[in-house]
Amino acid sequence: MLNDKITVMLNNQINKEFFSWYLYLDISNYYANKNLDGFANWFSIQAQEEYAHAQLFLKYILNNGEVVKLLSIAAPESNFVDFKAPLSAAFEHELFITASINEIYAEAYTQKDFKTMQFLDWFVKEQGEEEKNVDDLCKRFDLFGTDPRGLYLLDNELASRVYTAPSLVI
Ligand code: FEO
Repeated sequence: MLNDKITVMLNNQINKEFFSWYLYLDISNYYANKNLDGFANWFSIQAQEEYAHAQLFLKYILNNGEVVKLLSIAAPESNFVDFKAPLSAAFEHELFITASINEIYAEAYTQKDFKTMQFLDWFVKEQGEEEKNVDDLCKRFDLFGTDPRGLYLLDNELASRVYTAPSLVI
């Protein structure tokens, strides 16, 4: 059993993770349309990770005997002005997700809900990694992405990313 407020926050987090999935699918599609298949691959895998995050929140709620309430997934804003814009949007989005997870953590701390705090520990660490990955990508794009040959090499490198399932087991 979970506290009602914590359950609502976790349910909302499912929606935010599914929106992240949608957003990164949209970004992947954007790059695919521009023939940047490596960037498209990188965001397609990012999208898979977000889908897996949503499943973890969902399963945690169910495993604690609470009801999962699925909400509508908003359409992502996809008017990107240049190749860098989706990267900046992804970085901003990860900051938003980190803040959201921190809010749930703070509430769990207030409620002395140690079980939820322990569950969220994995996400706190994961968010640190995700912020760094996207920030690195932004910086590398600034270094190499504005030169056609640099962009080609960066795109080739991003094509090699493969999906690995989350290490957290619920
Ligand atoms: Fe599941 Fe990128 O946050």
